[in-house]
Amino acid sequence: ERCYKIAVLPGDGIGSEIMAVTLDILQKLGQIYAINFTFSEALIGGVAIDQTGHPLPPATLELCRASDGILLGAVGGPQWDDLPSHLRPEQALLGLRSGLNLFANLRPAKVFPELVQASTLKPEVIAGVDLLVVRELTGGIYFGQPKGIFTSETGEQRGVNTMAYRASEIDRIGRVAFEAAQKRNKKLCSVDKANVLEVSQLWRQCINALVPEYPEVTLTHLYVDNAAMQLIRWPQQFDVMVTGNLFGDILSDEAAMLTGSIGMLPSASLGATGPGVFEPVHGTAPDIAGQDVANPLAQILSAAMLLRYGLSEAQAADALETAVAQVLRRGYRTGDIYTEGTQRVGCRGMGAQVAAALA
Ligand code: NAD
Ligand code: IPM
Ligand code: MN
Repeated sequence: ERCYKIAVLPGDGIGSEIMAVTLDILQKLGQIYAINFTFSEALIGGVAIDQTGHPLPPATLELCRASDGILLGAVGGPQWDDLPSHLRPEQALLGLRSGLNLFANLRPAKVFPELVQASTLKPEVIAGVDLLVVRELTGGIYFGQPKGIFTSETGEQRGVNTMAYRASEIDRIGRVAFEAAQKRNKKLCSVDKANVLEVSQLWRQCINALVPEYPEVTLTHLYVDNAAMQLIRWPQQFDVMVTGNLFGDILSDEAAMLTGSIGMLPSASLGATGPGVFEPVHGTAPDIAGQDVANPLAQILSAAMLLRYGLSEAQAADALETAVAQVLRRGYRTGDIYTEGTQRVGCRGMGAQVAAALA
């Protein structure tokens, strides 16, 4: 029996609901595949602020460091929005990402054929979409210095963030993207704003410099405004997209809608070594929290990414993804992906169906 220590950080809002059903599913999967999971729960985000005064308590980071993989729900909510920025729940995510050096964020957007009708886009536009956003996660405007709200001599306030990338940061995320493209359909599109931003000019130069090392991969470049438009116009043209922290955040929410709902999109945040963080792309959905209506599939598919990329348990990962596809084929839908003629279920109901489909 293989044994893994999993740090479990449910966080705020729907985080605890989608996490609970995901852990039940992993337990069941463990029984089938002789995998022993030890789940250790820790505080993060708003609940951590309320209980400890800190969005990322040191004990949480230590537990994560000592784990084989980290499952995260989501953090944040209106009740914490007026705190100073270093005490906001969202700060915990940035601390976790930089603390564990998780520079590569993989966000796959794959359209399940059963959900083609659930998207707001036309079926012929999204059928067969299978793309991967590779988002740089520990640099760019999220971390660049200087940052802050400063008061000038005249008393006027000025908000500042700095978009900066070192060549080595671009090189390492570029390699992750080229390698992913090599294993997939061998197309890589780098997204930047090199027509205006110097940081993007360096980005483009560093990505181009990798081309000789990956001769099978076809590299193209798009400006981010065009990329946002192309994602809606003709998403089937994309295989792997690589981009910086902020552009990747925005484009991955946009890509999520191709799949029918942001409640479908999982992610993996990986470093060169050490445990990764596996979390849905969506947030805490305060508008639907506590009602048992959230879609748990993004969290469940994130658990599949934990199995595949974090624990090298490809067989169990395949089984879990197959179970999700099966449940959709059987017609079960949460509210966000509901269409006429399908069977509406809640968060727990969807989890129970996935567990049942595993057997
Ligand atoms: P959100 O992703 O939480 O919600 C956007 C919309 O999508 C809402 O209408 C919500 O109901 C819906 N939605 C999201 N996930 C869903 C699911 N699983 N099933 C069904 N519907 C779902 O984004 P927001 O409203 O902009 O942010 C809310 C809070 O979450 C903020 O505090 C924000 O900072 C935080 N946030 C956290 C993360 C994270 O922890 N990774 C990511 C994004 C936002
Ligand atoms: C995400 C979220 C986070 C981000 C926030 C909550 C810090 O939107 O994971 O996509 O911007 O990276
Ligand atoms: Mn986001």
